[in-house]
Parts: sequence; C-alpha cells; structure tokens
Amino acid sequence: MSAHDRDPITAHGGGELNELKAPVSERPALAAHARKLTPLALGARELSDLEMLASGAFTPLTGFMGEADYVRSRDEMRLASGVPWSIPITLGIEEDVARTLKPGAEVALACEDGTRLAILKISDIYKVDRVREAEQVFGTAEDAHPGAKNVTSTPPWCVGGRVILFEEIPGRTFMEYRLEPRETRAAFRERGWRKIVAFQTRNPTHRAHEYIQKAALEICDGLLLHPLVGETKSDDVPAAVRMETYRVLIDLYYPKNRVMLSVMPAHMRYGGPREAILHAIIRRNYGCTHFIVGRDHAGVGNYYGTYDAQKIFERFEPEEIGITPLSFEHTFYCRKCESMASYKTCPHTEADRLLLSGTKVREMLQAGQAPPPEYTRPELAEILIRAMRNRK
Ligand code: ADX
Repeated sequence: MSAHDRDPITAHGGGELNELKAPVSERPALAAHARKLTPLALGARELSDLEMLASGAFTPLTGFMGEADYVRSRDEMRLASGVPWSIPITLGIEEDVARTLKPGAEVALACEDGTRLAILKISDIYKVDRVREAEQVFGTAEDAHPGAKNVTSTPPWCVGGRVILFEEIPGRTFMEYRLEPRETRAAFRERGWRKIVAFQTRNPTHRAHEYIQKAALEICDGLLLHPLVGETKSDDVPAAVRMETYRVLIDLYYPKNRVMLSVMPAHMRYGGPREAILHAIIRRNYGCTHFIVGRDHAGVGNYYGTYDAQKIFERFEPEEIGITPLSFEHTFYCRKCESMASYKTCPHTEADRLLLSGTKVREMLQAGQAPPPEYTRPELAEILIRAMRNRK
C-alpha cells in the first residue's frame, strides 16, 4: 500500500478505529444471549454516547469508562493510558441497581422501551462525585450551565466496561447523512481529499461561519460540514431546521466537489475548551486532518473566555491530538472593509462592524424580521423565520 492509498490520519491514539459492533452473523446469538441479562435502560444522551462508541467515533474508548479513565480524564484530560481525552464518558446507574451488579458479569444496554441493543461486560462499578466532575469539566456546577446540569442530575454510580452493539439503535434521524467514521474516511479517499477540514456546528450557518469555512477550505482539499444532531438545549435551533439551512446553503453557495455534509450523533455538552478538544479528537476519528475552532467554541452564556477553546490546545503536544486546529478570530461584516473581516484583519471601529448577539438574532427571527444579509443569507433567514412561526 503506498502512502497515498492510506488514510491521511490514523484514529485517535494512533491506531485503527475501534468499532464496537458485532459481525452480522453473530448478532442473532448475541441478541438471544442478551435476553437473559439484566437490562439497563439508556436515556437519549447515553444512547448517543453508545452510538458514538459503537461507530468508532470515540476511538480509542472500548466502552463506557471505568474508574481509572474517568478520574484521569476528569482531572488531567487524559485516559489512564496517557492518551488525551477531555470529557468523561460514563454510564450512570441508580444505587439499587449498582448493588446488584458485579465486575466480570454482563448487562444488556437497552432503550427506554426495553429493546436490547448491546452487551456491556462489566469491568468497574464505582461511585463518583458529579459536582466535582462538573466543576472540573465545565468550571462550574451551576444549574444555569446546561452541561453541568446534565452531569449533576446523572446518578453518581457508574458501570464501566467493554461494549458490543448487536442491534441498530432506533430513532436515528438523517440516515442519508449519518456517515460513520469508516464511511467518511472512504468518502474522502474516493474524492482524493488528503487535507480535510471539519466544521463543528450546532447553529444555522451565518456569514461568519461561511467565511471561516471557506477561508479554511482555501488551504484544504475538502470541507466536512459536520453538524451535531444529538441533544442540544431547548432554545437552540432544532437539527431538522438547521439541516434545511445547510442543504440550501451548499446548493446555492458552495462548490459541490469540495464540501460534504454529514451529521454527528453526539449530544452537546457546552463544555467550551474541553469540548473543543473532544470535538477535535472525534473529527480525527472521522478522518479529518484539520479542525476549525473559532470564537467561544462550544460555549454557553459567559462561562468561557472568547479564545479559551483555542488556547487549551497548547496544553498538549500537537502529535498527541493529531488533528490540526485552525483557530479563527471573532469574525464579522465590516461596512468600511465592505467584506467579512475579523479583529485580526480589520482596522476599523466597532461602529463600522455588524455585530449581533445570538439573542438579538433570535428575537429578530421570532418577530419575523430577517437579519441583515451581511449577517445571514436571505434564503436561510426565510427558512429560520418560517420555522419560528411554525413553532409558535
Ligand atoms: S458551537 O457550539 O458548535 O461551537 P456554533 O455552531 O455557533 O457553536 O459554532 C461553530 C464554530 O464556528 C465554532 O468553532 C465557533 O467557535 C465558530 N464561530 C461561530 N461564530 C463565529 C464568529 N462570529 N467568528 C468566529 N468564529 C465563530
């Protein structure tokens, strides 16, 4: 195999993808076996973690974390092996259930209707301090922080161990766009892309997003527009509406041979800098070589500094993360420059710059008013206004 036939980037940790799915021929036997095991019902966020694990997007994890990985990822942003990992991935269970389980045994992971999907071989049963976890990961345990609230409302007992999926996870959406890491890697190979930049997003694409995506594309072969479609907070724009905006935008304004739209099933943690590291690692697993980190990446409210999510990469050796972060300054339209610009490239004053807060934009859209075209393309504003109207 020549260097050119190989993927341009290994999976996180330096090896192959860890896909945690049973071969099709073994699935009926595993399903029969799982019927005899204690079922643990997973909520939406745990199911999303299970999908990320099974697809290899969370490589090198082989299941929900045991205690050693949990403690080190919480306190040092590394797995027990030393490989960078910035947010614990745990399966919380109630104490009365925990007391019935033993290391070495197996449990079935199920969805809320009881359908068994996977088997977990228990390596650890342990109790954690969720407040401490939230403080370490998010810098706060306040309920006002949606990620912290999710963590502190998860039971402190955890079950960790290797996972094997034998059934398709039900309720998945956007199947046409739901490519797994193996599939995005194959798609990049097919297109002959060697430098691929990934763009994480949980919002509709505004001109600032478009500007940094296209700036990054100037130095890469292809762009993976990779919206997160797992659970987000209730006032974020729903994924189905966002997907419509991405499709229209690509159709009208992007070169089809240079951009790929695919969804990422993870849920949003609003973990700012720590989530930026996780987002980067995940995109490496999807086969991307570069990753965009702009202003207040994965932020919420005023919990993080504007560029904290860029600075955190300095705490790791570049080769440990593997994927190259591309940092972008706060970007806006400047009337004097007559173009998109940033604090790095624009010499003018705040008065010349079109700066709108997310809250202001939401208010405008709710009132049926399109933001200026220099902020949001009119074709997209139309979709967003319609969606707001239908929600009322
Ligand atoms: S995020 O939670 O997924 O980070 P969002 O979808 O708004 O939220 O952002 C996607 C990416 O674009 C992030 O890397 C973010 O930092 C970046 N970004 C968003 N708005 C701007 C802007 N005005 N200038 C520079 N980068 C931005």
